[in-house]
Amino acid sequence: MIEDNPFPTSTFVKQEQFCDRTKELGQLKQALKGGSHHTIVSLRRMGKTALVDHFISKYSKSRDVEFLKIDIQGTQGFEDFNQLLATAISRSYVSASGKLTSALSSFISRFRASLSVDPLTQLPTVELALGSASQNSRTLSDLVAELEKSPKRVVLAIDEVQQIIQYPGTNAESLLRSVIQPLRNVSCVFAGSRKDMMVSMFSDHRRPFYHSTEMMFLNPIDRNTYTNFICEQFSKTGRTITLPMAEMVYDAMRGHTFYVQLVCRRIWSSGQKKVNTEAHIHTALIETCKELEQEFYTYRNLLPSGQWDVLLAIARQGSITSPSSKDFLEKHKLGLPSSTLKAVKALLEKELVYRDDEGTYYAYNPLFTWWASNLT
Ligand SMILES: Nc1ncnc2c1ncn2[C@@H]1O[C@H](COP(=O)(O)OP(=O)(O)OP(=O)(O)O)[C@@H](O)[C@H]1O
Ligand SMILES: [Mg+2]
Repeated sequence: MIEDNPFPTSTFVKQEQFCDRTKELGQLKQALKGGSHHTIVSLRRMGKTALVDHFISKYSKSRDVEFLKIDIQGTQGFEDFNQLLATAISRSYVSASGKLTSALSSFISRFRASLSVDPLTQLPTVELALGSASQNSRTLSDLVAELEKSPKRVVLAIDEVQQIIQYPGTNAESLLRSVIQPLRNVSCVFAGSRKDMMVSMFSDHRRPFYHSTEMMFLNPIDRNTYTNFICEQFSKTGRTITLPMAEMVYDAMRGHTFYVQLVCRRIWSSGQKKVNTEAHIHTALIETCKELEQEFYTYRNLLPSGQWDVLLAIARQGSITSPSSKDFLEKHKLGLPSSTLKAVKALLEKELVYRDDEGTYYAYNPLFTWWASNLT
């Protein structure tokens, strides 16, 4: 039998392969009571979607709560948003045995929507009639009202919520807020990256979402917890990795979930029964970098050369608090402080560099950092 690699890097993570997040799950549990809203913010690929999916799958058997999730990345406005929400609602009307219920037919006729059923999954997809902006906002209220009157509590998860900032018109946030604020039966769980946008959307007192949701900043999983988990995943599958080697992976990837998983996946798939030397880790890091090298070269080809130089310099440095300092500029042969700062700003915008709460700058991708410092 071919054994499953215990380090998934796809979005869905099985319960037994999911590491920790106990505190965050405890916080999200409040949403099961209805009426409380939660916002999960983190760097990309830290585990927001996996956390939301894990939360839903953990409690999905509860008879008192209905879970709906939509991912609004790529939506262009409330018209698209409503289509996704209507489809999610229609799926909640499919019975446990997969039958389309009368509640579904009534929903479809009330919204004058058309319904199609995927022949493979048997899941319905709903298409609403196209509407004007004001019709869209009314439809949104009606869809949310539908959830509010559900006999069960409802948890509505909206992934990539920062996308609504891109919606045309200036009032997308106010509109969403106005339909969500009065809810008693529905709890919303928002997830999104772009911390700057998310924080201004949910915490800026001049913005409409101010204080309406509890903020959760998803940090890297605790080092001790994650490295012990890595050792367990190996031993559960008849192999071993020593704790110092798991720590080496964690530290090289700065605990950034997706990249820790990626490197562990590689080490595990090498088939080595006992991983106990730095050389094992080194080889896995090199191989993983080789796999992603094309992506790194794409940065180089697409970025103006000044920005590429600064990105490479930050990565080679590991981290930097003052990117316009003389030492840093001279060591990496960068230009003037002003042009370097301008490049840093552009790289922050492009999510190739991030700045932590202490004001330290890093290359966003820890594997790129490792590649730049060790292989260039
Ligand atoms: N707690 C966890 N245990 C094990 N693996 C995890 C965990 N959380 C996340 N992962 C892994 O890390 C990867 C990245 O997580 P995920 O896609 O949830 O991040 P994200 O924050 O939603 O990223 P994005 O901002 O790009 O949407 C997942 O594909 C999954 O394989
Ligand atoms: Mg995600």
